[in-house]
Amino acid sequence: MRLNSPQINLIIKACTKASRSLIRDFGEIENLQVSSKGPGDFVTSADRRTEKILVEELLKAQPQYGIITEESGVINKSNTNNRWIIDPIDGTMNFMNGVPQFAISIGYEEDNQIKCGVIFNPILNELFCAEKGNGAYLNNTRIRVSNKKKIKDSLIVTGGPKGSSKIKKKIFSEYISVSNNVANVRKFGSAALDMAYVACGRFDGYWQRELNYWDIAAGMIILKEAGGFVDFFEEDNNLPLKKNILATNSNIHEALKELINKKVIE
Ligand code: IPD
Ligand code: CA
Ligand code: CA
Repeated sequence: MRLNSPQINLIIKACTKASRSLIRDFGEIENLQVSSKGPGDFVTSADRRTEKILVEELLKAQPQYGIITEESGVINKSNTNNRWIIDPIDGTMNFMNGVPQFAISIGYEEDNQIKCGVIFNPILNELFCAEKGNGAYLNNTRIRVSNKKKIKDSLIVTGGPKGSSKIKKKIFSEYISVSNNVANVRKFGSAALDMAYVACGRFDGYWQRELNYWDIAAGMIILKEAGGFVDFFEEDNNLPLKKNILATNSNIHEALKELINKKVIE
């Protein structure tokens, strides 16, 4: 692999360390799943344990860098020039049900631009990573987005809405519009992996509302470096960490955007 910045090496080292306890926890979940206790609070503690290891490793190497994490919020608020964006487990619902579709996701930003990122599924041992200007990789192999050109032949992935969403109608309307005009739509439950899968050509496009920045920061650089295109719709300047994303192999971008904008249910 030709990615060699100190930051990417640091992220990979932190992920490798955190994944050891995450794999153990996942084994435990599989036992709890069939026990009368159920996984309950164990999941939250697995999230926190993973995040603690990641934050400790990154702070040990770069004590001044800022950090945004899902579980602890903002650390080192004053440093906005260099910061890590961490989701310790993206796909918690899958994790807690014993489904091996979840990942650690970490992006690194300099002056508000994402410079590198890693998405690591420790169960399948798939590590997606990218560095600005140096390409994207799955383990040691260079990856590229699919070459699909026609929206009607495309396999699209999406996620949501959560049970608590206030805009379910809008989301279902988009789903119907897309589903009527593409080969098929998937819903896999990990935004980070959805983006990584577009980056390596398994899916042709992805859209989703109501995400947080930590769900997609690493995915954005991985997808761009793999030749994809990332776009946001209906941004809210008051909520800069909330994101509605459209991410594709580039070729089908405009066609997918049109389908999302078409109102099927009022
Ligand atoms: C969730 C996953 C899921 C998406 C949700 C996210 P979490 O992250 O990315 O695919 O649909 O909106 O919140 O909670 O598992 O880290
Ligand atoms: Ca999470
Ligand atoms: Ca997440």
